[in-house]
Amino acid sequence: MVFPQTRLRRLRRTPELRSLVRETEVLPRHLVLPLFVEAELDGSRPIDALPGVSRHSVDAAVAEAGEAAALGLGGVILFGIPSAKDEQGTEAWDDGGAVQLAARAIKAAHPGVVVITDVCLCEYTSHGHCGVLRDDGSVDNDASLELLARTAVSHARAGADVVAPSDMMDGRVGAIRRELDGEGFADVPIMAYSAKHASAFYSPFRDAADSTPAFGDRRGYQMDPANGDEALREVELDVAEGADIVMVKPALTALDLIWRVKQQTRLPVAAYQVSGEYAMIKTSSMDDRALALETLTALRRAGADIVITYFAKDAARWLAT
Ligand code: PBG
Repeated sequence: MVFPQTRLRRLRRTPELRSLVRETEVLPRHLVLPLFVEAELDGSRPIDALPGVSRHSVDAAVAEAGEAAALGLGGVILFGIPSAKDEQGTEAWDDGGAVQLAARAIKAAHPGVVVITDVCLCEYTSHGHCGVLRDDGSVDNDASLELLARTAVSHARAGADVVAPSDMMDGRVGAIRRELDGEGFADVPIMAYSAKHASAFYSPFRDAADSTPAFGDRRGYQMDPANGDEALREVELDVAEGADIVMVKPALTALDLIWRVKQQTRLPVAAYQVSGEYAMIKTSSMDDRALALETLTALRRAGADIVITYFAKDAARWLAT
């Protein structure tokens, strides 16, 4: 016999009742659209590994940002594809680089769009690692900090509203904060990729950004997916160094960490639904719309204030219907 007071189904009886008691909401403003910018490109070029996603010229990126604004998205995050790569990744901090040109053009055309820029060296280095290398091929953490800070300042100079270091070098948030403050950008917040696991889910992105390491892997600086407490230590350090928003990445494999990070920091928490998570849904034989909305809802329920997702534009349209 079921106790009358345990009839939870009563509140599921109609769409209106379900809506009345729904706890979690996904709104377009929670979503951030990643944009790959290649200045040399004419228009947009589809990315094979990411069906439905393209690399964009600066003009095409401006058009995308306009669409993002019209759909009410929370913002865009820019990734640059350089015209040339070298050992140091010098185009990363070039004021005429892809990200800088796009940030400037987007802010000029659509001042209301929140422009976040990914700060890293891996798209710009000939070896594809996120920092510079020592002679023995290992990543030199401390020598990379200055270059990352220079990159962040160059993005701020181009009008970036938020800079987002994704390199996972120790101390980069502090180095970037100091440099931004010293160069007159004390008001530019940092969204730190704080808890970033070394993940196979990034492989379509590496095709998209042409940033697969030429040798070795990223396990020397990205976190072991087996570790959760370590993610909290990473977050703690980034917060101490001045992170304003903290990120967990990938998203669906780290729902526990999204929750723990939110409880621990009470800061805005971003979850990055990465390229492989997108591709997995997009290429499955299941209903991609339903899967996308279900996963985005789960990320919000776990505590994500912001979700970076390649579904951002689609999701905003689906949510409106
Ligand atoms: C750069 C960076 C990566 C992603 C975001 N910034 C790649 C990596 O760390 O290998 C991955 C995003 C995605 O897979 O969608 N360091």
